[in-house]
Amino acid sequence: MAYETLIVETTDAVTLIRLNRPEALNALNSQLLSELTAALDAAEADDGVRCLVLTGSDRAFAAGADIKEMADKTYAQMFAADFFGAFARRMEQFRKPVIAAVGGYALGGGCELAMLCDFIIAAETAKFGQPEINLGVAPGIGGTQRLTRFVGKSKAMDMILTARMMDAAEAERSGLVSRVVAPDKLIEEAMAAAAKIAGQSPLAVMMNKELVEAAYETTLSTGVALERRLFHSLFAFDDQKEGMAAFVEKRKPTFKGS
Ligand code: CAA
Repeated sequence: MAYETLIVETTDAVTLIRLNRPEALNALNSQLLSELTAALDAAEADDGVRCLVLTGSDRAFAAGADIKEMADKTYAQMFAADFFGAFARRMEQFRKPVIAAVGGYALGGGCELAMLCDFIIAAETAKFGQPEINLGVAPGIGGTQRLTRFVGKSKAMDMILTARMMDAAEAERSGLVSRVVAPDKLIEEAMAAAAKIAGQSPLAVMMNKELVEAAYETTLSTGVALERRLFHSLFAFDDQKEGMAAFVEKRKPTFKGS
């Protein structure tokens, strides 16, 4: 499919999606969000795709939801369209792993989009923020909830109420990002992580993703019980036999996803 606001390429089971609205610092307008939804649908339906990397440009991952598109909307229009609702749910329900590779600005909806991914690799140039307060609004794609879970109440409150940005070093210290790399190594590092994931059992990857997500949604005892059930259930797959046999035979496993 041809996209106007994205560049999508799949190599060796990894789909790289680049947000591509340079004139608006990749602001998330309706067209971009519907194209991103279509790209996710296509990647989910393609058995050849095992992992995704989502990135922007050197200057901006995404500078937020498109303010120019939203400026004149009424409450009735925002509510009736469930603005951002369908897109957020699509990301939340996506079953394959998605790595955010963030360079430059990740603000407002851009920071929220990065947090909707499974983990974030940041370039040293990355700047994260939820500056919606400057516009007289609040985050609308989960920022108040996810940022608080990632960095804790004090930092989240500071960032959301003052609109200050966090640089990559602070974001790594605070647990928002998993690693920080030189800007010219960002895509290479994210693609290498994606390739490593793409080589694992896709069934085990999906179950591990589900389990980590459950840690945010449930109590410790329920989460641990779910983990044990899924751990046991993984022994129903050929991939478990292959993974353990390969270890014993001192060779690399070949996972088939069965
Ligand atoms: N929406 C629409 N257009 C945007 C945009 C956004 N979020 N962010 C940047 N742009 C546009 C600018 O209007 C500008 O376009 P023009 O050349 O046509 O004027 C172009 O991108 C380049 O931006 P700047 O000239 O402002 O670049 P800068 O380097 O001086 O500043 C910036 C960069 C600090 C990121 C600044 O652009 C900025 O503050 N952007 C807005 C950030 C923001 O408030 N994000 C939150 C949006 S609301 C939201 O996301 C709600 C939600 O939770 C769902």
